[in-house]
Amino acid sequence: MKKIALTGIKPTGIPHIGNFLGSIQPALKLSESCEARYFVADYHALNSTKDPLAIREMSLQIAAAWLACGLDPDKGSLFTSRAECLKPFELLTILLAYTPKGLMNRAHAYKAMLQSNAEAGKDPDDGVNMGLFTYPVLMAADILLFDTDYVPVGNDQFQHVEMAVDIAQSFNYIHQCEAFRLPEPLAHETSKTVLGLDGRKMSKSYGNIIPIFAPEKQLRKLVMKIVTNSQGVEEPKDPDTCSVFSLYKCFATDDQIAMLRERYLAGGMGWGHAKQELFEVMNAQLSPYRERFEQLIADPGYINSVLQMGSDKARELASAKIKSLRSILGID
Ligand code: ADP
Ligand code: TRP
Repeated sequence: MKKIALTGIKPTGIPHIGNFLGSIQPALKLSESCEARYFVADYHALNSTKDPLAIREMSLQIAAAWLACGLDPDKGSLFTSRAECLKPFELLTILLAYTPKGLMNRAHAYKAMLQSNAEAGKDPDDGVNMGLFTYPVLMAADILLFDTDYVPVGNDQFQHVEMAVDIAQSFNYIHQCEAFRLPEPLAHETSKTVLGLDGRKMSKSYGNIIPIFAPEKQLRKLVMKIVTNSQGVEEPKDPDTCSVFSLYKCFATDDQIAMLRERYLAGGMGWGHAKQELFEVMNAQLSPYRERFEQLIADPGYINSVLQMGSDKARELASAKIKSLRSILGID
């Protein structure tokens, strides 16, 4: 039997290179050997944004991004949470009863909020809604509902997948059954944390992103903005502590990487040159995706029909899973 790969992206901002390298690209690779179930995590966006127009617009962009980068809707399914009959939310309610509060207290995103509130002298839970606090359980529901084996995500999401395993084990143990398959997070060494323009993790919330489909001119401008140190042209440079090189490794061939590494170590290469090399490999790989994205986004009817097809399939699978869980719980 084919293994199952599942991942989701929240429609909270325009799709960026971190999403592409950390999630979309590895997910598409997995879709060659696994059954692929990829979705737009639309309800999930509510924790951080309440703007319905923005959620709608970004959901369309995320779906178009999957298709533009190569998801074949006849092979893998693409769906939205809202359209699959709300089954993840039924499973969320079930799983909450198997999740110790202490597990949620340890979630990185929640802990980061507590810390930034403490630093700002605010109440520890300022700005923390219950959606954010219980988010790892919702993500566990998304994953466990579809008997997922592999979850292609960036490093920041690993803890959530590990929590899904903990919650699944708790349910399986209490009911002495194997109702839930135990999922495994997957990431590539070079792209598990993609760095942004300022050298921190690339993230919508840091405003340091490079959009996947940025027009060529904008892409070049953004690449030229990547922060480097102040070493002069002649000085040898360290490729292993450089954001430009770390992005280059995600787009270039092994030979190209080895050649640029030499130029870093030898000296005589300015940051402008390194950035030009990066721009060229990125542009070469992203140009065809950009063109396809422009065509797709101009045809929302097509995108919605793909989502409809994927959601119909997802709803069927999810309903069957919920039925079997209800029977274990004795509430069928
Ligand atoms: P953001 O941090 O910009 O809000 P999301 O949380 O929507 O991004 O992430 C969607 C997917 O893309 C997740 O699987 C996440 O791990 C991955 N991802 C996001 N940013 C990066 C990054 N900088 N490096 C690697 N993966 C990333
Ligand atoms: N939490 C992920 C993010 O922030 C999105 C997501 C929701 C997800 N449910 C998921 C990812 C299930 C993988 C599996 O981007």
